[in-house]
Amino acid sequence: MKMNKLLRIFAVAAALCIALSGCGVKTQYAYGEDAPSLKDAFSDDFRVGAAINTWDIEDPNSNNCKTIVKQFNTLVLENESKPESIHPEEDRYYFDKFDMFVDFCEEHDITPRGHTLVWHSQVPNWFFKDGNGDASAELVLQRMRDHITTVVTRYKGRVKSWDVVNEVIGDDGQLRFSEWSRLVGDYDGDGDKYDFIEEAFRAAREADPDARLMINDYSIEASEDKAIRMYTAVKQMLSEDVPIDGIGFQMHIGKGQDPDQLRKCFEILGRLREIKPDLIFEVTELDVNCYGWNQPAEDVKLTKDFIKEFNKTYTDTFTVLKELSDEGYLDSVIMWGLHDGVSWLNNGHKNYPMLIDSDLKLKEAAYEVMELAG
Ligand code: XIL
Repeated sequence: MKMNKLLRIFAVAAALCIALSGCGVKTQYAYGEDAPSLKDAFSDDFRVGAAINTWDIEDPNSNNCKTIVKQFNTLVLENESKPESIHPEEDRYYFDKFDMFVDFCEEHDITPRGHTLVWHSQVPNWFFKDGNGDASAELVLQRMRDHITTVVTRYKGRVKSWDVVNEVIGDDGQLRFSEWSRLVGDYDGDGDKYDFIEEAFRAAREADPDARLMINDYSIEASEDKAIRMYTAVKQMLSEDVPIDGIGFQMHIGKGQDPDQLRKCFEILGRLREIKPDLIFEVTELDVNCYGWNQPAEDVKLTKDFIKEFNKTYTDTFTVLKELSDEGYLDSVIMWGLHDGVSWLNNGHKNYPMLIDSDLKLKEAAYEVMELAG
């Protein structure tokens, strides 16, 4: 074992010991020099990252920025690289924020992801319009290809992994009904409506042959039905030589998520390696919702039992992620947000879904997952 690796392990272990010793006080700031770091703890397993916004990194001395540099070695923009942000009008692109983000990542040896090229949400309507009516399939495809070519070419060799399409598998059928699927439809006449997806991947591959091209979706880690639908779709597209390199698991999971359910879903999608042996997984948007989807609008109480169950959800989940990494399936785990206070899940409720709290302190769950590393 190399000396610097030994030192690193020692430093992480020492920081964890300090944090876990004494009266159980775990109050280190995530940016603190002596605090353990998620990226260091998991350096032999996978990169660890977060979805951020460029205001987090504008001031290098801000605690948000220091936390990011200390804790993470992969990053994605939460909203500022989506089509509605960078391409609101057909002949106008706004790349300032995306450029700044990619520069920042390179400066700090952080792997940037691109989210997302094609999605039914946060996409401007001009993609789908011709005057007051619908655009033709040709026009929609041409605009989509132009968008992908322009964006991916700009960051060629720099953005290593793209969510080429996001959330294209529906909850109730093979393919989500969207303006993309409605207007492009079965363009090549082969009986399926995956055509906009196929063309998106081909355009991205052409623009950057070395970038990793991902199909990203939610609930494919927790619903076997949806995992099977994704399996079927990807299998079919791979058989038509669509250049899909991997599957992005958003992993917006809930407190109490059963780890065996996760294992089953990963196993279903892992079978795609029979067709594509180097298929890779990334966890792209991990958070643990403290509320059920239909829970009444009463704020949760952070009782000891509640926190224990929350921590267990994280440790159970990271146990599975570590297994996947050990088996060579997974090399990147990204949290959807920097800390509890800015999570998208604070909608109507105060939510606590992350490993870092709203004061930028590492939560107990963070220490517990780091103990699983290495
Ligand atoms: C969310 C952002 O977090 C919010 O700020 C925004 O208002 C809506 O989009 N799946 C995705 C992400 O792929 O892009 C979404 O991000 C969360 C769900």
